[in-house]
Amino acid sequence: MSLPGGRVAVVTGGNKGIGYAIVKGLCEQLRDQGVVYLAARDEKRGQDAVNRLKDAGLNPRLLQLDISNPKSIERARDQLKVGIDVLVCNAGIAFKNDATEPFGEQAEVTVATNFTGTVHTCEKLFPLLRPHARVVNVSSRAGDVEKIANSNLKTRLISEDLTMDELKKIMNDFVSAAKRGTHKDVGFPNTAYGMSKIGLTAATRILQRDIAKYNKNEDIIVNACCPGYVDTDMTSHKGTKTIEEGADTPIYLALLPPQDGKSDQSVPKGNFVAERRILDWTKGF
Ligand SMILES: NC(=O)c1ccc[n+]([C@@H]2O[C@H](COP(=O)([O-])OP(=O)(O)OC[C@H]3O[C@@H](n4cnc5c(N)ncnc54)[C@H](OP(=O)(O)O)[C@@H]3O)[C@@H](O)[C@H]2O)c1
Repeated sequence: MSLPGGRVAVVTGGNKGIGYAIVKGLCEQLRDQGVVYLAARDEKRGQDAVNRLKDAGLNPRLLQLDISNPKSIERARDQLKVGIDVLVCNAGIAFKNDATEPFGEQAEVTVATNFTGTVHTCEKLFPLLRPHARVVNVSSRAGDVEKIANSNLKTRLISEDLTMDELKKIMNDFVSAAKRGTHKDVGFPNTAYGMSKIGLTAATRILQRDIAKYNKNEDIIVNACCPGYVDTDMTSHKGTKTIEEGADTPIYLALLPPQDGKSDQSVPKGNFVAERRILDWTKGF
């Protein structure tokens, strides 16, 4: 499915907002050196977006991918088995401030997409990553560990030896506590979106650590980032950045050049990045 010798890039939630601009930017930069899959959960919305980019002279391909549906992830994996060079996990949701759904429901749905769906996507697609692959998880500065009042919990979340199983349990505990209405009492933050992105950034650090352990010499780099406050449906178009500006840091991370044999501390690796700069997520923003 790829061009001979070409690179394969996949962007989840590519049909609108920041994801659409990431697809556009990657198509412009890779041109005939690769193929960019615009992944969308809804085929019609995805096809419309592909058509708009084709009208602009670009050539993305459509991939149906609902990150909260394990069967959809497996189908996408089967279609991508030639290998992946760039994976941008951009798909995400946020309830509006005036949403009327109970907090427990908001926590369950938000964590299921932003954290669990993204982690499942990584777990299923990582075996397809080729040497020098770049993975970008679009997280958020809203996922600030300083929002966690329980100091033991915070210490675990930022610790170097946190495991994915332990992190998944913490995220499940958050959802259970949110449903009981006790999440604040046990020191979780009072934000479903923020907690989902804390989990995603913590997961990114684990994914980088584990892939470096098992694929030592393959120069695979996984980072989390914040695109900034962007004018999209998610922000009810109040964001101050254009979608192209929001796509800048994710694209920069997606196209980090090969690092063979180098250990350059200025190159993000398992980090949290905003405005192309590494921020120390473990110390809060
Ligand atoms: N906008 C900001 O200021 C801002 C700031 C920080 C971080 N972010 C993060 O940036 C990413 C993109 O946000 P955005 O502002 O561009 O939001 P958006 O305009 O609402 O777009 C979100 C995209 O994610 C897709 N999506 C949602 N759930 C999905 C699922 N289960 N499977 C596959 N795709 C799914 C949506 O598809 P549908 O069209 O089918 O709904 C849409 O394509 C998100 O992860 C968000 O949390 C945004």
